[in-house]
Order: sequence, then C-alpha cells, then structure tokens
Amino acid sequence: MEDIKTVCVVGVGVIGASWTALFLYKGFKVKVYDPYPIDEEFFKKRIYANLSDLLALDQQEPNGYNLHDLLLNLELHNNLKDAVADVDFIQENAPERLELKQKLYQEITSYCPEKTLIASSSSGLKVTDFQKDATYPERIFLGHPFNPPHLLPLVEIVGGNLTDPQLLKRASAFYQRLGKHPIILNKEVKGHVANRLQAALWREAFSLVKDGVCSAEDVDIAITSGPGLRWALFGPYINMELANQKGFKEAIHHLGPPMTEWWNDMQAFQHSEETTELLEAQTNELLMQYQDVDLYQKRDKGLVDILKLRQQLELD
Ligand SMILES: NC(=O)c1ccc[n+]([C@@H]2O[C@H](COP(=O)([O-])OP(=O)(O)OC[C@H]3O[C@@H](n4cnc5c(N)ncnc54)[C@H](O)[C@@H]3O)[C@@H](O)[C@H]2O)c1
Repeated sequence: MEDIKTVCVVGVGVIGASWTALFLYKGFKVKVYDPYPIDEEFFKKRIYANLSDLLALDQQEPNGYNLHDLLLNLELHNNLKDAVADVDFIQENAPERLELKQKLYQEITSYCPEKTLIASSSSGLKVTDFQKDATYPERIFLGHPFNPPHLLPLVEIVGGNLTDPQLLKRASAFYQRLGKHPIILNKEVKGHVANRLQAALWREAFSLVKDGVCSAEDVDIAITSGPGLRWALFGPYINMELANQKGFKEAIHHLGPPMTEWWNDMQAFQHSEETTELLEAQTNELLMQYQDVDLYQKRDKGLVDILKLRQQLELD
C-alpha cells in the first residue's frame, strides 16, 4: 500500500466527491470516473469546499501546497477503461444496486492492472455478492466510509469470501495513513456495524413519532441535547461504564432489567406510504426553523470543530 500513488474514484456522487477531496489533500494523483457527464466547474467547486474543510481541520497547507495546486492532480473521465487503466487503488462509490455493482466489478477488473486494489464504499451490500465474477477477486474488499468521508474518520473494512485475508491489515494501514480510523470486521454482515447501530436508533425514532409519543422535533432534541453530545466523545460501551460510579457490571445489573423491558416493549417498525408521509410532514415542519441555513455547510463546519475538540482532548 506504500506504493500507492494514483487513485481512481469510481462514481462521483455524494460519497465519491468527498473521497476525491481527501485523496487529493493527501497528495495522490486522482482520476475520477462517472458514466454521466461531470460538470467540471461545479465538481471542482465542490472539491474545493471539501479541501477547505480539511485545511480548517489541519490548520496548515498540506505539504506546502495551496489548495488550487492540489486540483492540478485531478483528472475527470467518462470512460472507465481510461480511468482505471494505470491506477494503484480504486475506491468505488457507484449506486447501491447489486446487479449494477456485479457488472461494474467485472468491467473494472478487466480494465485495471492485476496489482490494483479495489475498495467498495457500499453501505449494505456484501463484497461476496459482487466479487465472484471479477478478475482476481482476492484484491476486492469493503472500505465503507461515513458521510462525509473527507471528514469522518471511520472506515469499516471487511473481505468477501474470495478476498485475500492478508489484504485487510494492509488496507487498514493505508486508511490510517489517510488519517482515518479503520475497524476490521471479522465477518460480513448486512449493513456492517455503524449502519446497523444507526438503523436500530432510527427504528425507534420512527416508531415513537408514528405511535404519537412525541414529535420528530422532540426526537431530534432528545438526541442532540442528550446522548448525542456524549456519543461524540465516547461510544456505548464506555458510556455504560460511566453510567454509575461502580463500573460496567454494576451498570448492567442496574440498567439491564429495565432495558430488557423497554426492548420487549419496542415494536418492529414497518415502512408504509402512510408512515413515510407522516414522518416527512413532521421533518418538513422541523426544517422550517432552518429556512435560511445551509445545513450541509453547518454540519461540516460543526464536524471540523468536533474533530478538533477530540484532538485537544487527546481522544484521537
Ligand atoms: N450517502 C451516504 O451517506 C453513504 C455513506 C457511505 C457509503 N455510501 C455508499 O456509497 C455509494 C455511493 O453512494 P452515494 O450516496 O454517493 O450515491 P450517489 O447517487 O450520490 O452517487 C452515485 C454516483 O455513481 C454514478 N454512477 C451511476 N451508475 C454508475 C456506474 N455504472 N458506474 C459508476 N458510477 C455510476 C452516478 O452518476 C453518481 O454520480 C453506495 O454504495 C452507498 O451505499 C453512501
């Protein structure tokens, strides 16, 4: 992985554009591919904004380069063969559809060199399900980021049935070199780890509103003014340890029985057009408070500040 100099980002929607900025910022030559025409001016503006976030986090120009210089290392492609022909590493971010990824991996691996390593950003699909018809499938693995990947440090790594297990540690070292905090999963599971955790919370967030317990606004306040603040510092395990003065076991003895009762009371939420309309209407009401606010910008600025705080507190 130390030999990686040129990267191809395949699919430059929300996630691909964010990865592109990170790779550029870290000094790689970056070729991007999308089957649809890429509006160069719009795309470069978006990348520049992401690079500016990274600069705000770092507070120093990367390797003495200014951000405009970094854009000189960017190449845009609409032809997959040209885009992947000579790259060392590919980060794939195509739409989350199994048949599309199966075909794409066949194509990518027939065009790129044998040594090229290929990571998928897929949020829920298993690598096993789209690597099997690829050429040299042992070099394909999951490198799942969290949105926006240029800022959030988490990357979930896992191999499919045909992935070379030795590759995963090398992949982890590569992402660490980019400043990421990778975790290597022992086995594939739908939705990986972080999305399953989020989905568990969303299930209850939707149920509470559907059952009329509280509004969408109340749910958001309950998180952002409550546990969400702690979660930016410590995860569920450390938070459980800190739940009382006597440590994890005592906390479980104390909280375990009522928590089990709450679990038993929770319903398995089912999506329907009716519930989607109800939840959307409440979300729209909530959004009225932010009419003149660029929420993406606010989120990314806030994330930069939280990441800086974690550094100051020596949590990273
Ligand atoms: N959005 C998120 O929060 C998030 C977070 C982590 C991972 N992911 C994963 O990243 C991937 C991309 O998600 P996104 O949100 O950026 O989607 P997106 O729709 O914003 O972008 C997908 C891009 O892929 C392009 N594309 C379409 N067909 C293609 C093909 N055959 N080959 C290559 N590119 C193609 C599209 O033109 C588009 O630019 C998905 O696998 C998704 O699960 C998404």
